[in-house]
Amino acid sequence: MSLFQGVDHVGVGVGDVDEAIAFYGRHVGFDRVLFDVTAELPAVEAFAGRAPRARVAMLESSGATPIGPGRVKLVQVLDGDGPAPVPAGQAWGEVGVCEICLHVRGVAEVHASLVAAGCADLMPPMTAEVPPTGISLDIAYVADPWGTKLEMIEWTGLWRSLPGPARAEGVNHVAFGVTDMGRSRAFYERLGFTALLFESFDFFDPMAPWFEEPWYDPARLPTQHMTMPMPAQGAAIEPVVLDPPGHDCRGEWGHLGPMDFGIRTSNIDAAAAELRADGVEVYGPPQAIDLGGGREWRSVAFVEPDGNYISLVEARY
Ligand SMILES: [Fe+2]
Repeated sequence: MSLFQGVDHVGVGVGDVDEAIAFYGRHVGFDRVLFDVTAELPAVEAFAGRAPRARVAMLESSGATPIGPGRVKLVQVLDGDGPAPVPAGQAWGEVGVCEICLHVRGVAEVHASLVAAGCADLMPPMTAEVPPTGISLDIAYVADPWGTKLEMIEWTGLWRSLPGPARAEGVNHVAFGVTDMGRSRAFYERLGFTALLFESFDFFDPMAPWFEEPWYDPARLPTQHMTMPMPAQGAAIEPVVLDPPGHDCRGEWGHLGPMDFGIRTSNIDAAAAELRADGVEVYGPPQAIDLGGGREWRSVAFVEPDGNYISLVEARY
């Protein structure tokens, strides 16, 4: 089995972890808090330019199935001036993490419940099929209170969830901008993201309202090349290339909104050694956070082709 086990979590910056635990637990189905620690984080020093002091809470959905296996990592930067804002002018697909996608059962119902809970309605529910597989899906978007774009998908043509009421069921994939699709595909294939669920080249028209002046000319929107390589385990990735490219929206590590993600591994030392042997720069050694009771969370950041903020994660919860 591969050492790499798909996307473990997406990191999102929030203004208040207590409020975010309540919001994600009550409205987005992330009802389990795997840990909630306040610490200095030398593991992300390469991204943040310092070892930031932050409160970090890892949330899991008890409704998660193999199609929504990813977790949400809430991050509240506590030092300096606190969390930076969502990068200015971020529409979707610029370099940087740009969304979390939740697998949900009942997109229309979950979308309505999130809008009723106060989320901004970014895209009403609709049905689509993705090329070249023709796999069908229901899709909608809202924003969380801190600016994270939450996509909701029910992959109706791929997998039906377990029986139950309409609900969000964990992270299905993370979207992020890259600049060279071939280079990124090769890089992530090495990390186990091998099965191509879809590839499309056209602009997804329902996103047009997100591409605002002065960052974009609404009359001349970029093309979007999207792919979704799936791993055998863990959540998937959705790298996207805008043409012409958007500006860099990675922002300061820990900014509000989606900003980093982790790849799960069964053995972080062996996985880091494999990456180094492939010429990938790893900002080692792993940082271990003692969660008490024999539980431990280890992570180490590494360099991906566009400098998106990613880490390897090995956890013993
Ligand atoms: Fe997506």
